[in-house]
Amino acid sequence: MPMILDFYKRLIDDANDIVWAVDIEGRFIYLNNKVSEWGYNKDELIGKPLLSILNARQIENSPEKGIEIGMNGLNEVEVVDRDGNIRKTSLSTSPLKDDNGSIIGTIGIVRDMAEDKKLQERIADTERLASLGQLSLGIAHEIRNPLSSIKMNLQILNRLIPFVGDTKEHFDLALKEVFHLEGILEDLLSYAKPLKLKLKQMDINLLLDDTLLMVRSDIKDKEIVINRYYDNELPKTLLDEDKMKQAFLNIYLNSIQAMSKGGTLCIRTYRERELQSNSTDMDGIEKRVVVEVSDTGCGIDKEKLKFIFDPFFTTKPYGTGLGLSIVKNIFDYLNAVIEVNSQSGKGTDFIIKFPVTNI
Ligand SMILES: Nc1ncnc2c1ncn2[C@@H]1O[C@H](COP(=O)(O)OP(=O)(O)OP(=O)(O)O)[C@@H](O)[C@H]1O
Ligand SMILES: [Mg+2]
Repeated sequence: MPMILDFYKRLIDDANDIVWAVDIEGRFIYLNNKVSEWGYNKDELIGKPLLSILNARQIENSPEKGIEIGMNGLNEVEVVDRDGNIRKTSLSTSPLKDDNGSIIGTIGIVRDMAEDKKLQERIADTERLASLGQLSLGIAHEIRNPLSSIKMNLQILNRLIPFVGDTKEHFDLALKEVFHLEGILEDLLSYAKPLKLKLKQMDINLLLDDTLLMVRSDIKDKEIVINRYYDNELPKTLLDEDKMKQAFLNIYLNSIQAMSKGGTLCIRTYRERELQSNSTDMDGIEKRVVVEVSDTGCGIDKEKLKFIFDPFFTTKPYGTGLGLSIVKNIFDYLNAVIEVNSQSGKGTDFIIKFPVTNI
């Protein structure tokens, strides 16, 4: 019996919340060890009224709130620690009874809410960001129509105005910036809108080549060498053509932008190999189709690498920083995994692994 009592005593003495008991007059008759984290010595509190450690403002406003002697309750209570800091706590109380069932005091369990508060603040932050996202989506929609009207009118004027001196340069600059704004809006809308995929069985090699055509003038201007190593035995894969092109376009553009004249862009496709040659675990399981896009560009610093998929992270004067967030969104939807290896000054590899889904 004493052993069991000893066990219960330790259970409460060492609990991670403060546990106390007060008598019918509200004076401490027990406190566990946790109270020392608030700077109090539990022995010096024994016999003192519970009110002595509560915040004066709280006592003024509702002296008995949360600590109705002998009652069940759950309340927020402000406690003052030994250093005078006010701690917001949640206090759960229950009656302390003697052997006859008569109420002789109150048992209280006190939890510091600082941690809970941090969690609540994080949730509030996420909600605020989500509503900010909604707001920017609304604004992007509102700006899109007037902007295309500005673009259309500038294009008409471009044909009609007989430009003199350097007015044409000013005009072209205005038109270029309108295109730039349009690009930002498109990126923003495509990032914030929920994705709707139109899946069909696709030949990845063909898709990669089609996307290359979209950047052919940049490739030519920068005299970039393209090396393609395609596995022609790849199975067709269930993908969304437009989204895939959008994703690879962003990856190609980043590579091209990272390279100076004469760089090399290497595109490789292959079927994922088994992890171990003697493993039988993978037998019967479709192995993934892998696409690697490697460039000999400026590379990405180690400390920047973890941010590249974050929206609005950019190191470019004219970048929006949405390119790779869109890429990540698309690949996440397709259950594809994306890995990046990069060496500053040497180049970057993007490795994307697509599950093979047959229907
Ligand atoms: N192949 C690459 N080589 C070097 N740095 C890269 C490469 N791909 C991405 N990055 C880095 O990641 C950052 C984020 O890329 P992301 O495509 O999201 O935005 P961005 O290219 O800056 O702007 P945009 O919205 O116009 O695409 C880039 O600014 C760049 O610093
Ligand atoms: Mg980009």
